[in-house]
Amino acid sequence: MKVDGKYIQTIWLDEDERRVKIIDQRRLPHEFVIVDLQTVDDTITAIKDMYVRGAPLIGVTGAYGVYLAALNAPDNQTNNDYLIQECNRIKASRPTAVNLVWAVDHVLAEVLKASDLHTKIATAKKRAAAIAAQEVENCKKIGEHGLPLIEQISRKKEGKPVNVLTHCNAGWLACIEYGTATAPIYAAFDRGIDVHVWVDETRPLNQGTRLTAWELGKHGVKHTIITDNAGGYLMQQGKVDIVIVGTDRTTATGDVANKIGTYLKALAAKDNNIPFYVALPSSTFDWRLKDGVNEIPIEVRDPNEIKYVHGLDKDKTTRVLICPAASPAANFAFDITPAKLVSGLITERGICMATEEDIRRLFPEK
Ligand code: MRU
Repeated sequence: MKVDGKYIQTIWLDEDERRVKIIDQRRLPHEFVIVDLQTVDDTITAIKDMYVRGAPLIGVTGAYGVYLAALNAPDNQTNNDYLIQECNRIKASRPTAVNLVWAVDHVLAEVLKASDLHTKIATAKKRAAAIAAQEVENCKKIGEHGLPLIEQISRKKEGKPVNVLTHCNAGWLACIEYGTATAPIYAAFDRGIDVHVWVDETRPLNQGTRLTAWELGKHGVKHTIITDNAGGYLMQQGKVDIVIVGTDRTTATGDVANKIGTYLKALAAKDNNIPFYVALPSSTFDWRLKDGVNEIPIEVRDPNEIKYVHGLDKDKTTRVLICPAASPAANFAFDITPAKLVSGLITERGICMATEEDIRRLFPEK
């Protein structure tokens, strides 16, 4: 995507091939800062503290973490045990997005086949870059497959604006390019379709307010930030035509883990007969799981993320306490939307129903 006229992806390897470059998303939208990852510890901090976030991007960052582990392996630690241990540390950095485990395991499996350290390093670099490129391609395809959904609504509304509601940030910032939920929106916008996005603020870290609004604005897409609780009201008023969200992990049966609050949007959409779509690359399916509510691990984060907010005060970013200091807070980061509330899954291979049978029709090899 372009930021102020300059093409940029969310992660890349520096020319010196020793540093992985990322955008520090904690500082958006007020500051645009690029950060270097040089070690496994840097990688873990970036994932845990959410410099990078969003399932596909966490996966690719983890993949490059394997490369950094191999690149910086101490002279006496060139054996596989060391690399396996470092990969376990990376995989433990965030629990819900399955892309992390998938990508790290994928790169590690190839690396372990190599006999010497030099080949291990080269293999890790190649595999991490390949996963990044594949995710770009997948998101592009998600855009192509999701576009007809928006086109149809636009035709039905005779060109009046199509109102899409989205939650969290499943945009290019959460991926490498295009985004998942935003890919059909960008595709529609680029085709000249009048599209407007209701952006859920997405408390507590405000990925909607800070990130989705920022990237839609950079691309010129009309959008309005709303409180997390406004969606149901807007749906009752006929002001939402379609909901499109991303996911951090989706079971083989179509249960969807996504940012906390997604489930409530799905319930409201069902009650108002509004289509509720989930956009995801195949790397976000957890093929082993069949029961999202009982099997997907839900991350519980630092309560201070709820108790404090970050913002701009005049020219300075600042952090303020917004509740009684002594009040406890509980920060559940994700929830599960059962498959029965999902109208369809938009994948790189097309759209399917959120049922085991239809998912397997698109991915028979799984
Ligand atoms: O906690 P985050 O910001 O990593 O959560 C991200 C989300 O919930 C996104 O909606 C999801 O990863 C889909 S990203 C394409």
